Amino acid sequence: MRFRIRNFSYAQPIKDPIRYFTPKSIYDLDKLPKNYEDFVNKLGSNYPGYNDPAYMSWLYKVRNAPSKIGEVNKVEYNDDHILTWSTVYSKLRHLHDDLACDKYKENFRELEELGILSEREIPNFATLNKYLTHKSGFQLVNVGGMIKPRFFLYGLAFKVFFTTQYIRHKSVPFYASEPDIIHEILGHVPMLADRKFAELFQEIGEKSLGAPDHVIDVLGRAYFFIIEFGILSDKVLGAGILSSSKEIEIISSGKAKIEDWSLQKIINSDLILSDYQPQYIDVVKIENLKEIFAEVYNYLKI
Ligand SMILES: [Fe+2]
Repeated sequence: MRFRIRNFSYAQPIKDPIRYFTPKSIYDLDKLPKNYEDFVNKLGSNYPGYNDPAYMSWLYKVRNAPSKIGEVNKVEYNDDHILTWSTVYSKLRHLHDDLACDKYKENFRELEELGILSEREIPNFATLNKYLTHKSGFQLVNVGGMIKPRFFLYGLAFKVFFTTQYIRHKSVPFYASEPDIIHEILGHVPMLADRKFAELFQEIGEKSLGAPDHVIDVLGRAYFFIIEFGILSDKVLGAGILSSSKEIEIISSGKAKIEDWSLQKIINSDLILSDYQPQYIDVVKIENLKEIFAEVYNYLKI
């Protein structure tokens, strides 16, 4: 099952006064609502683990404990969770050797050398945040699931990366129907540690502050198609690909549909959230990102 977000009319009635609240400081982020897309509700019995009461109760315990700025949740992971982590970690690590972009591999190696990442244990946020703040100033802050794009982008403005902490069900180690800790850490963290990449993230976030809905929509699309699913010629940049062995295999098979960057294309494409992508955007090299996002800002007049 897949969910698509199509273009919507911007002339929608305003129901949520919080959309007018624009954080002025990092601590204002705590005032934003942390409600999230409920994929369990959407997928019902198709949600992996739906019929495993112990897993579902653990999942909701983790989901329902969002952190505040500066706080770190200590999540208890059991042997099944750690086995899932290890299984995916070892497979992805092998695939990344050939396909991940250089910046990703460089930081991933450093995280392993420092003992922060390993296939033996799921890293804790305190250690990751110490590393990230030192490298780029970013920090991970736990949320229960995929929050509204506006609030996710607001976090970036203050170098906060809102992050999930639960892990997918053991029955499907190579598939996640929504972002989980494997996606967040093995997809995003190595690139978040790159200072230039982090500056780009912060800039996208700053452009979102107090922006009207159509600006949030286009910024969110650029983020989705490039940061999550972008490629760099024969290497992978996107966190959604780097954290999915299936998605990497699709690309390395040569059968993937690869499209050149086009702002109009991303504006008119559906966002596929719970399935493999029908296309990937090739931004050719990481140095092009500044120019590409400048085109986005220019189009939006921001
Ligand atoms: Fe992501």
